Amino acid sequence: MDHNNIIDSTKDWHEDAFDLTRGIAAYTRSPLVARIAKVLAKHPQASIANAFNHKQVACKMWARDELHNAFGGKYQRIWVLGGWYGVLAAMLFDDARFDIGSIETIDLDENVAAIAQTLNGNDPRLIARTCDMYALDYAGGKPDLVVNTSCEHIADVRGWLDMLPGGTRVLLQSNDYYAEPTHINCVSSQDAFERLASLSSVSFAGTLPQKKYNRFMLIGTA
Ligand SMILES: C[S@@+](CC[C@H](N)C(=O)[O-])C[C@H]1O[C@@H](n2cnc3c(N)ncnc32)[C@H](O)[C@@H]1O
Repeated sequence: MDHNNIIDSTKDWHEDAFDLTRGIAAYTRSPLVARIAKVLAKHPQASIANAFNHKQVACKMWARDELHNAFGGKYQRIWVLGGWYGVLAAMLFDDARFDIGSIETIDLDENVAAIAQTLNGNDPRLIARTCDMYALDYAGGKPDLVVNTSCEHIADVRGWLDMLPGGTRVLLQSNDYYAEPTHINCVSSQDAFERLASLSSVSFAGTLPQKKYNRFMLIGTA
């Protein structure tokens, strides 16, 4: 290796990102960052830099903190819908305030389950499923918390909530990031999100401003 060579623009960026994340993992002693390095090596097609960018991480740390404030840290069975690469699941397992029996991260996209497994270090408490959230048996599955931070990606938020047994605890996020083409159901404000979801009880409602958009969150019961 030529140590004087500053940047070799022909080199795949994954190699540098792999070295860097391994270094950051060693320095911070973070098993989660070490597993991001594994994702880079094993699943180079994954948009992990997008899923774990500082805005995504901020939104999920906000979710963790407010969830803990609202309902505490003990859960038997959490379902995370539209769970993508399992970042939220990994961040919940990584947080010592939480005592969680299992997390099912469920996504329509058949390509994401293997990545979620790698990111979660094949933790037996993590179940990665490929399924449409409209096709799940919520009454039979009995999750004690249902998380959907992808409400901007689904057409009928209230129609989906109607599938949950009354009283099910939920954490929901949406945003006003209309410019992103995959966002088919953005909301213009926190009030609009509250009206759309019409939860039977609301323990937390808030807005996290980001540079290009606002993230809205509701925690309560369906
Ligand atoms: C881009 S990702 C997640 C963005 C979100 N802001 C987050 O990180 O929480 C949205 C995910 O929702 C999934 N999705 C969309 N419709 C779905 C459905 N009906 N059931 C399950 N997953 C769905 C997509 O496949 C995608 O992986």
